Amino acid sequence: MCGIVGVLGNIEAAPRIVDSLKRLEYRGYDSAGVATLIDGGLVRRRAEGKLRNLEAALERSPLSGTSGIGHTRWATHGAPTLSNAHPHQAGSVALVHNGIIENYLELRDEVVGAGAVLSTDTDTEVVAHLIDLARTRGLSPREAVAETLPRLKGAFALALLFAGEDDLMIGARKGSPLAIGHGEGEMFFGSDAIALSPFTDRITYLDEGDWAVLTRDGVQIFDRDNSPVERPEAKSSVTSSLMDKGNYKHFMAKEIHEQPEVLGHTLSRYFDYTTNTANVAGAEKLNFNKLSRLLISACGTAYLAGLVSKYWFEKYARLPVEIDIASEFRYRETPVSGNDAALFISQSGETADTLASLRYCKENGAAIGAVVNVPESTIAREADMVYPTIAGPEIGVASTKAFTCQLAVLAALALQAGRERGVLSAEREQELVSELTEIPSLALKALAAESEIEKLSQPLSKADNALYLGRSTNYPLALEGALKLKELSYIHAEGYAAGELKHGPIALIDENMPVFVIAPYDSIYEKTVSNMQEVAARGGRIVLITDRKGAEESGGAAENTVIMPDMSDIVAPIIYALPVQLIAYHTAVFMGTDVDQPRNLAKSVTVE
Ligand code: F6R
Repeated sequence: MCGIVGVLGNIEAAPRIVDSLKRLEYRGYDSAGVATLIDGGLVRRRAEGKLRNLEAALERSPLSGTSGIGHTRWATHGAPTLSNAHPHQAGSVALVHNGIIENYLELRDEVVGAGAVLSTDTDTEVVAHLIDLARTRGLSPREAVAETLPRLKGAFALALLFAGEDDLMIGARKGSPLAIGHGEGEMFFGSDAIALSPFTDRITYLDEGDWAVLTRDGVQIFDRDNSPVERPEAKSSVTSSLMDKGNYKHFMAKEIHEQPEVLGHTLSRYFDYTTNTANVAGAEKLNFNKLSRLLISACGTAYLAGLVSKYWFEKYARLPVEIDIASEFRYRETPVSGNDAALFISQSGETADTLASLRYCKENGAAIGAVVNVPESTIAREADMVYPTIAGPEIGVASTKAFTCQLAVLAALALQAGRERGVLSAEREQELVSELTEIPSLALKALAAESEIEKLSQPLSKADNALYLGRSTNYPLALEGALKLKELSYIHAEGYAAGELKHGPIALIDENMPVFVIAPYDSIYEKTVSNMQEVAARGGRIVLITDRKGAEESGGAAENTVIMPDMSDIVAPIIYALPVQLIAYHTAVFMGTDVDQPRNLAKSVTVE
């Protein structure tokens, strides 16, 4: 992970770098740092923890200089301390890095053998020493970088600043993203278009293995064989305004409440309301009518959206879905061929494991579709077809509105697949689409349960453990509920398929165990009620999330009931996601944790 920025400009660089880092903090917030070139010398300011600590350090001790590099860190190798904060410096070289240098131990022995003194526990510092040692052998910055890059195993995006070189900055990418920004007599590096948005909307994305030499006048790009290459310049549509929380206490609260609106935007892009049909531009690229299976791969919450869609593709399109967590899929060596289609789901579009899974399927000839929220992301750029979620920027680290918008896109794809495969009648499709059109107003009604959820979250904040149960499309929601509670409140939580309870987890039930049951009144509701009774008989404290009819038929097993509006099966996992998010949110608020930036996490996971 980590965010990097480089500025080769004409006005003071440090404030611009901090401005850019504010937009990159979603990539990690363990530490932050800046290095600028002042009278030819490298000078650094670094701080542990959030960016505001670096800002305070810069206020106490400002940095001049018109060129500089900056970093916001998500720690991989080495604790999140001041000395491990980037930029790292060795002699005449300072650099910032996003990624992991896998062979750093071997390289460390080599540079120490050559006389280098290491001052950090990171994998990154060796790169600065290798380049500095090459410089002391008389190589130019360019030659030193060209010699060093092929020696680095793993993933990296690097930006390098050299003492005495006022009109030079070098960047490189392998595995981690890096973009170049073109200004007027100024040039920039950034992890993404968001980092570059305060400076320019003219962007060039480096390809895998590329490295680039910036001067204020322009850029020269080289491929992995050091041959000069041209990469196209694109116009970024990313807005430069910093997101604000509006009247909400946290971005997460704002994003939860934006769902009625952004779901409306996403649905209207993928459904034709005049005919009540799914209308996904580019769906033909996936050849639904020829497929014998659909592959889906993603991580975390995005994976859980995929898991919900497995029920939809199988039920409405009779299309078997093989879904896996991307970090497993990428190494499973599963057979994939030109007869396959694969879908990758990612809010950020940068998740390293999802990207690697995409590349595996692409190399093996499958048609590639991507459901992403950031249209300029690497996953979007490498897919054959992009199905964007129209969720708007998601700042809270825990995914909320992107998840429900992913579900909306996947529902459209499933119905379109059903029609194209000739298994979903026109009448049934129209019926389902008209049910889906109710989502924005149902989402508003679901949010009306917030004050009740807030009340029941207070005692939950004192629990050490929690269980979430659900069946069918609500089973992935049980997993999502547990994931959200864990990441926001640090309470240990597990999600289970309700029917699986008696095969082990029931042993955990006692009077201290809150059990959330996500169960709209549907064709299998009675089965879930039996599982609830099993929990109640053992003293478990049940919070039932259901509808009016479900509450009536629950047999009195629940200690608390959250009532959702009535809705059809296809709509339920999208709407029931909202109370699940609110439970985690309010529990975390009661506990006083950092809701938008929970400990140890980052919004964009660009390392495996
Ligand atoms: C949890 C959460 C994560 C992400 C996961 C994948 O609330 O947000 O589990 O869903 O890291 O990220 P993307 O969707 O960017 O690939």
